[in-house]
Amino acid sequence: MTGRGELLAWFAGRRRAYPWRGTGDPYRVLVSEVMLQQTQAARVAPAYRSFVRRFPTIRSLARAPRSDVVRAWGTLGYNRRAVALSEAARVIVRDHRGRVPAEPETLARLPGVGPYTAAAVASLGHRVPVAAIDTNVRRVVGRARLGRDDAPPTDVEAAAMAWLDRADPASWSQALMDLGREVCRPVPRCGACPLAAACRFRAEGATPQRGSRRQGRFEGSFRQLRGAVIRELRGTEATTLRTLATRLGRGLDEVTAAVARLSAEGLVRAGPAALAGRPGGRVRLAP
Ligand code: ADE
Repeated sequence: MTGRGELLAWFAGRRRAYPWRGTGDPYRVLVSEVMLQQTQAARVAPAYRSFVRRFPTIRSLARAPRSDVVRAWGTLGYNRRAVALSEAARVIVRDHRGRVPAEPETLARLPGVGPYTAAAVASLGHRVPVAAIDTNVRRVVGRARLGRDDAPPTDVEAAAMAWLDRADPASWSQALMDLGREVCRPVPRCGACPLAAACRFRAEGATPQRGSRRQGRFEGSFRQLRGAVIRELRGTEATTLRTLATRLGRGLDEVTAAVARLSAEGLVRAGPAALAGRPGGRVRLAP
């Protein structure tokens, strides 16, 4: 008893829940998966729609200046992802004749594509039978198949591969993602779970582990500042550190540190004066 049929029946009603589903276009899968790396699906949906309207093909994305891609990223935050996606599109056009690769190993060499995103693009975009294991899937597989919240990653991978529906890995993986996000949450809602009867965690009466806080206060506020700098720069050709600090109500030192980090990440272009923290130093989005 693995609960496969029950999970797929539960998923049947949800297979159109998000705009990236059912497109059959690996480029769109890549865009959505990069957006979903650090942003909740409900927030990704509108940003994804407008991004693919602006850049409907990988070639249109590869041709666009980076600053346009960062602007089109909208309010999703973690703007480095936009730079990496732009770079990945250029590599795909240059080295893969504009075809998003199907092999997870090749995908994982693209900028901004880690093992999870590589597996997701291969399985959702090309129907390659590999398990795409994000945080939610890890929790579902760990609990349902191994009866624990703290199973070692290699055990979870092996269990996920054995459980995978090879006939339709795209539906299977997305069913697990949805279940983890909505039902098998850190505090699980077993009463609503299609896997309840098959779940080892539940059968063994195990108790959920409390998740740890993902981000410290300092990192959170520094990240927020970097996002705010990018928002300011989106609305202008170029500006100075002083203007940024005034408009954001933050100290010059903090703004200089944020600009330096964004410059190292390739998101902004900052002159030597700005990098040295001089108030008149000029800053703009990287072209
Ligand atoms: N999280 C990551 N990828 C997803 C997808 N394709 N659908 C829903 N949630 C996801």
